[in-house]
Amino acid sequence: MTASTKPIPRAGVMEIAAYVPGKEHAGGVSRVFKLSSNETPLGPSPSAIEAFQAAASKLEIYPDGQARLLRDVIAEVHGLNPANILCGNGSGELLALLANIYLGPGDEGIITEHGFLLYRIQILASGGTPVTVPETDRRVDVDAILAAVTERTKMVFLTNPGNPTGTYVPYADIKRLHAALPANVILVLDAAYAEYVRRNDYEAGIELVSANRNVVMTRTFAKVYGLAALRIGWIYGPAEIIDTMNRVRGPFNINTPALLAGAAAMRDQTHVAKAVEHNQVWLARVSEALTALGLEVTPSVTNFILIHFPDQNGKRAADADAFLTAHGFVLRAVSSYGFPNALRMTIGSDEANTGVIAALTEFMERT
Ligand SMILES: Cc1ncc(COP(=O)(O)O)c(C=O)c1O
Repeated sequence: MTASTKPIPRAGVMEIAAYVPGKEHAGGVSRVFKLSSNETPLGPSPSAIEAFQAAASKLEIYPDGQARLLRDVIAEVHGLNPANILCGNGSGELLALLANIYLGPGDEGIITEHGFLLYRIQILASGGTPVTVPETDRRVDVDAILAAVTERTKMVFLTNPGNPTGTYVPYADIKRLHAALPANVILVLDAAYAEYVRRNDYEAGIELVSANRNVVMTRTFAKVYGLAALRIGWIYGPAEIIDTMNRVRGPFNINTPALLAGAAAMRDQTHVAKAVEHNQVWLARVSEALTALGLEVTPSVTNFILIHFPDQNGKRAADADAFLTAHGFVLRAVSSYGFPNALRMTIGSDEANTGVIAALTEFMERT
């Protein structure tokens, strides 16, 4: 066997297009509203900020590698057993660990047409094969997922509610999907935006996880909790799966400021309720205002909307993106999610939302 003359990455790695985060800047504009990463305009709970600052006095000490306090608080608020919770450096770390542990060469991971881009990256990084199934009218199609299952399928990744679509799969369909999956296939319910959903037929998946050995639910502190900078996510899963992840993860994967701020944020459910209320009001207002301008907005249950632009010179998504950016409003281009003529807008502060409506009114009216 001839040795290679240079280091060679695992098969699949060079097929990965690196994740591109939402833009932060609007070159030259002094006041910028970042509406590109689904961050909350309310910021974190004041008690989380206090906890974070207090942590500065003991930076020489390693964090609690078991994240006991944070897991206990999450468990208390959600009515769960802390033994079934694992915290991660963002839910992204947990998704990566799952793929790394349960997929290898020859294994397939099912993802959906407009699902979160990280799944494909992690499946390829693990040496597995991503299998993309179509969505129907920007909604996850449970039957399309089931039709794609083969004996090589090891995981199904589902963003519910969806990003960037903002649509959701009713719980009855999630249960039907799970019931039809082979017992060795892990169903990953990525519920990063669950807190925002106000629908009676939606469930993040806690009951399904509790009753089965092959379902997990991931959550994040980056969205409604306003702690994106600290990178905290958590997973609720069966004991055997949590055990495998504990074996592979970094021993101190969450830092102390994050552990303390996360626990304080989780305890302040009044702040969460405020953020959800703000979102409810503005989600409806922005959606209605943009629809009145003749733009199509995919109905959303989250803290962002997908805005579709006319297929007309000067009025396309790229034109709107340039126009909005010049006015200081940074939205997310979503071509890589299969929407070349749409932009995703995070619901922002009163000022940001009013500003986007005014700017898009001008954009649509100009000739
Ligand atoms: C659907 C979905 N899952 C997971 C994540 C990752 O969250 P975290 O910041 O916790 O890694 C995001 C963030 O954009 C997301 O949109």
